[in-house]
This record gives sequence, C-alpha cells and structure tokens, in this order.
Amino acid sequence: MDDTTLSGFGNHFSSEALPGALPQGRNSPQRCPYGLYAEQLSGSAFTAPRAANRRSWLYRIRPAAMQQPFEPLEPALLTNDFGAVPPSPDPLRWDPLPLPADGAPTDFIEGLATMAGNGSPDAQTGCAIHLYAANRSMEGRFFYDADAELLLVPQQGRLRLHTEFGLLEIGPQEIALIPRGVRLRVELPDGLARGYACENFGAPLRLPDLGPIGANGLAQPRDFIAPQAAYEDREGDFRLVAKFAGRLWQARIGHSPLDVVAWHGNHLPLRYDLRRFNAIGSISFDHPDPSIFTVLQSPSDTPGVDTLDFVVFPPRILAMRDTFRPPWFHRNVASEFMGLVHGRYDAKATGFLPGGASLHNCMSGHGPDAETFDKASTADTKQPQVIEDTMAFMFETRCILRPTAFALRSPTLQRDYARCWQGLKKHFDPTRP
Ligand SMILES: [Fe+2]
Repeated sequence: MDDTTLSGFGNHFSSEALPGALPQGRNSPQRCPYGLYAEQLSGSAFTAPRAANRRSWLYRIRPAAMQQPFEPLEPALLTNDFGAVPPSPDPLRWDPLPLPADGAPTDFIEGLATMAGNGSPDAQTGCAIHLYAANRSMEGRFFYDADAELLLVPQQGRLRLHTEFGLLEIGPQEIALIPRGVRLRVELPDGLARGYACENFGAPLRLPDLGPIGANGLAQPRDFIAPQAAYEDREGDFRLVAKFAGRLWQARIGHSPLDVVAWHGNHLPLRYDLRRFNAIGSISFDHPDPSIFTVLQSPSDTPGVDTLDFVVFPPRILAMRDTFRPPWFHRNVASEFMGLVHGRYDAKATGFLPGGASLHNCMSGHGPDAETFDKASTADTKQPQVIEDTMAFMFETRCILRPTAFALRSPTLQRDYARCWQGLKKHFDPTRP
C-alpha cells in the first residue's frame, strides 16, 4: 500500500479505498456513495482559527454511535491521577520495563503503565507518560482515547496500527501520532513490543516555527506520512475500549469500528521516522539549548511556552572547539522525562538503557555523570566527534512531572541513581586561574 505524504499539518488530505467512495463537492450528500454514512470527527473547536482548525469527514459502513453501553474497565497500571503521591525533587531513573511473561498475555492496552504526568484531561492541558510492554495483538477489541492525542515511541518491536484512517506501521526510531478520538487496533508483528506512549491532553502537537533557521531543518512536513484508507467489513462479538475522563471504559460492539471506506480532512494519524530529523547545532563553540532538537510542540496559551515538547537527540557531529561538548550541568524551569530507543546516550556513561527512562524535574540539578565529565573535559576538541548509534528523546513539560506510585515503587527504579554525580571531584584551586 502506498502512503500519503502530508505537505503540512494544516493541509487537507483525502483517501478512498473504493473508487468514487469520497463524495465530491459536498461533505454530507443526501445519499453517500456505496450506502456509506457520513460522519465528522472534530479535533478542535469549530471556531478555532484556520491554522489550528482540525476536522475530518469519515465515510463509513456504520456510524460511530453504534455500540452497547460502556462499563468501567479496571486498568492495570494506567492512570491520569497525578495527585496520589507527593513528587520529590530527586532525580529519578528506571531500568526498562520487563516484557510480559509468556503465560501472561498482554495486549497494548493492558501493557500500558503510567510513569508520570501533569495537568488533566478535564483541563485540556498537560500529559500522561506511559511505558508499554506487550506480547500479543489486540484481538477482537479496539481502542480510542477521548482524553488525549497519543504519541507512540517504540523501543522494541513494531506496532501495526490499524486505524479508522487506514494502516500505519512503525518500529523503533519511528513515532506515530494518533489524534484524539481516532479508533484503532494494535497488532504486534514481532510478537513482543515495548516502548513509550505519551497522552497529550493539550493542543495537538505541531511542528515548531523555525525563526532564523529558515525554511528547512529539524523535522520536515513532507516526512510525516498519513495512511491510505482501508476498511474492515467484519461482524462479531467485539469490544470497544474508551479512555474517557482519565479512566478506561469498555463496551460490546457487533462490528469492527475500523469501517471507514473514504475520508478527507486534517485530523488524522501520522507516522514519522526520527532518522529523518535534520539536526542543527553549533559550528563554532558552545551549544544551543536543547530546544534546537524539538520535533513537535504542544503550544500553551502563553506565547513561546509549550505544555509539551517532544525532543530528540539523534546521531550528529560535534565540532565545537574549546567547548565541553555534552550538555553542561543545568537546572531548568521545565521538567524533563527522557527515554532511549536506540544505542547509548552521550551524556551518561552507564545506567541509561534502551527502554529505560529518567526524570529530572523543575530546578533539580543534573548533567553528565563523573565519568562523562572527566572524558569530555580532556577531549581534543580540534577533532570532530561523530556520535552514532543513538536515539534518545525527551518529553519536556512546562509543569512539574508527578511520578505515579507505580513508578516510585517499581523494582526498575534505580535507587542509587543520584550517586552518579557523587564522584565529581573538587578541582577548584584559587592559586591556579
Ligand atoms: Fe536536562
């Protein structure tokens, strides 16, 4: 199947799985081709400015109103309650989430474990950061998230995302954006899958403006790929799981809700290969702030202040002279949740593993560990340094990230993490400038 490439997030796109399925000239004709139902999926306020206005029209076998009543579904480790545990200012780091044992069939929804978050779906601001570890495809059940846009970042195993808009497949070093409300089923073609998932309660993620960088660089619109329409005409005793008001709900449904034969609009799933990110940095000395690595941002009501940034640290060449090349020690007003999807991260010698995570909250000091400091302080900066085999990322938020009880009690929590800075020696000598 060919993919459709978006030429811009505000752009309009369309796709049809049967010839002539997409009505022309009007969104809701009296009778749609092939006996389909027309349905609008709104992703923004109707009156949002044109550049921020999002909606799609779906032409489907049955409307999305057709399922039995929803009943609460007890989630295993998924939560949007971030007030249960007082957040500590300590830096935190975790080993990867163990993959589920063979005897414990776990699909993508069951495999979600919430690590931290802030804000709420009610407030339409903030995010929930989850890890997932799963060992079976979603069979006979479907999912949608009314609370948030989903940003999926696989670390191990591919995710085959059968969505209302068609099929998107992503693997490690790729991401997918699933807009609020879009129904999908997640298959695991590799049997096992692990990674990171971020629920964005706020404004939909968008590409940042580029300012003096110019028209090119960072993530480019042409690399965000939309699916082509594909539909399932299946009947059976299925389940539809909804994430709504911070909780999971489940309803019986007698057909596959992935029955959209044609669609058009701009509220649609996308995938992106992080290896296509055009990294920009200093070619003289020092280094720019990590915002230079922003892939996507969720803007807040305050200009220049995002509720959520998705930032990557991709392979790159460091050529800055007489410069400490890893990120220096820092304390930020922003809070940083990091993950590693491939290779190793250049600012830590040990302990930060693919599939693992770290959290450095507002104003908590952090930076390179002692070993990295010693190495970078004596490196020959006349020579360029090529950083290969790496793909780290960060969910950076405006508000404090509040770890969950699960995250703080997990055996994967590295209880000695802060010790990585205790080996930093005192070098100060007032007699030697
Ligand atoms: Fe940091």
